[in-house]
Amino acid sequence: MEDIGVAVVGLGRLGYVHALNLKKTQASKLTAVCDMDSDLAESTAAELGCKAYTDIRSMLDDKSVEAVCVVTPTAYHLDPVSVVAESGKPLFLEKPLASSMDESRKIEEVIRTSRIKCQVGFQRRFDPAFAEAQQMIREGTIGKPVYINAYSEIPFLLLPGLWIRRRVVDSTSTCSCTISILPVFSCETKLH
Ligand SMILES: NC(=O)c1ccc[n+]([C@@H]2O[C@H](COP(=O)([O-])OP(=O)(O)OC[C@H]3O[C@@H](n4cnc5c(N)ncnc54)[C@H](O)[C@@H]3O)[C@@H](O)[C@H]2O)c1
Repeated sequence: MEDIGVAVVGLGRLGYVHALNLKKTQASKLTAVCDMDSDLAESTAAELGCKAYTDIRSMLDDKSVEAVCVVTPTAYHLDPVSVVAESGKPLFLEKPLASSMDESRKIEEVIRTSRIKCQVGFQRRFDPAFAEAQQMIREGTIGKPVYINAYSEIPFLLLPGLWIRRRVVDSTSTCSCTISILPVFSCETKLH
């Protein structure tokens, strides 16, 4: 079976990580990246060995793009989702769906009408620490949780020009994720 050609739209904090992961993942290949910041699109494409686009419509005309990963800021999901839906190509959309119920319903409608395949990125469900916490809740190990406090420390790479605060780490450092379910539970798992 041929690898599926995937493109990433939005190369900020998380889009870059998705692009890196797609580059490494079997059964898919990163064929294009798209960001309205042309320097970012060009430099990421050069680094990861794929095509660069600044406009999602032109990117969708590219036959090597068979599926799309939308990682634009939450308040700007509806437009790219609508354009992808129009193209009929399968979509992975970062969570949360939108920044309001009204926009979430519009996105739901667009997906239903177009009948494209769409997965919303609840990747934390596959995070070992979260899975362990869920298992402990299911098994009754900690009783009924009354309050959940979760935070994570993720070694995102420092990209110039992006406004979200990041820690600078080297590529070999561990990614540590901690969930505390108060009042009686705390769990930490090393991810790498
Ligand atoms: N699942 C998780 O754990 C997790 C973690 C972080 C972020 N997120 C989600 O990922 C999404 C992206 O967040 P982020 O922090 O990476 O954003 P960011 O602000 O760091 O980057 C967004 C990028 O999208 C680009 N962009 C915006 N509109 C565009 C368009 N129409 N076409 C092309 N490029 C466009 C911007 O230029 C920017 O480079 C959000 O929905 C956020 O909630 C999820």
